[in-house]
Amino acid sequence: MTSTRCRATSEVRPEVMDFSPYSAGLSIDEIKERYGLDTVVKLASNENPLGTSPLVQQVIRSHAGHVFRYAQSGNPRLGKKIAAFFGIPEDGVVTGNGSDEVIDLLIRAKARPGVDNIIAFDPCFSMYTVLTRLCGVELRQTPLKPDFSFDWDALVNLADDKTAITFVTTPDNPSGYTPPVEEIMALAGRLPEQCLLVVDEAYMDFTGDRDAYSMLPRLADFPNVCVLRTFSKSMGLAGLRLGFGAMQPELADYLKRIRPPFSVNILAEHAGMAALDDDTFYTETLRVTAEGREYLNRELAALGCTVFPSRANFIMFEAPVDGAALHEGLLRRGVILRPLNKGYGLPRHMRVSVGNNHENAVFIAAFKEILDAR
Ligand SMILES: Cc1ncc(COP(=O)(O)O)c(C=O)c1O
Repeated sequence: MTSTRCRATSEVRPEVMDFSPYSAGLSIDEIKERYGLDTVVKLASNENPLGTSPLVQQVIRSHAGHVFRYAQSGNPRLGKKIAAFFGIPEDGVVTGNGSDEVIDLLIRAKARPGVDNIIAFDPCFSMYTVLTRLCGVELRQTPLKPDFSFDWDALVNLADDKTAITFVTTPDNPSGYTPPVEEIMALAGRLPEQCLLVVDEAYMDFTGDRDAYSMLPRLADFPNVCVLRTFSKSMGLAGLRLGFGAMQPELADYLKRIRPPFSVNILAEHAGMAALDDDTFYTETLRVTAEGREYLNRELAALGCTVFPSRANFIMFEAPVDGAALHEGLLRRGVILRPLNKGYGLPRHMRVSVGNNHENAVFIAAFKEILDAR
């Protein structure tokens, strides 16, 4: 079909006109096809190293016949189960199509286009920037310190009486840096009263110490805080899309009013409940990740990389060779990592997800081969 230029289709909102999309990790099929490979190891999107829980697979199979139905609007059963599991009030839980959807709802509910601003560190998880821009809201950012720790004073200095949201990620993506929770509690007390502090804890389970790092058990004392969690990482449901926000019931009620009714689908709802029941899979995920993280820390340092300490299921490092060449060399050998040039503006840094023992070893062997070939 030849395309005809037509104002009805060529004119969109100015925010959309020059929009750069979220830059996702490359897919296994893409790389197999591009380089004619039979096997590819993907360590680019911080997915679960054990795959999908067997219990979840069984539950999905048993509900396959129900997908002609809509899910129960608002997923009340799932919300109840999440609340009981995490020990938080049910009326403060908002489920979403990934925590991405909850981020979107929060921005749209809180920030007035052309009036309010949102603040975050730079770099930060790129969905905060993508969704803020889409909404026509000003984004203010302050750089992380050179060691990727947080400059709280600089962050607070960005805030004014039009700051709708402050985003903080802990453990941080892409560095893995995790501040003590006392620092986040202190931040909550320093922001303007209309500003919601959104603490994104997508990788919190991998710290193995929620007492030391998580705001979730402390929410009752911090009404201006919302905590985000996802089922994509430690629970292994990235492809089904499920996350939630825990917040004050009043704010949760606003979000529930604007949320599309069936964004958490029927399989995601049942899989989410099953994932919360599968303690064996969850515990093993944390064990394999902690062990793999140790291994990768050691091996990357031995290969001459600068390795940034991480409490998450990924590690950021700077290689002793050009980042783009390393990325390409790894792809040719069937290993997908996340270069941090696009989306994060870090041309010399790479992020590797902690895989299972085999995947980690394949990555290190390919990396060695590239260094030896210099
Ligand atoms: C910091 C952070 N927050 C949120 C998300 C989104 O998670 P979900 O898959 O639940 O949308 C990610 C995913 O990579 C992430 O890294």
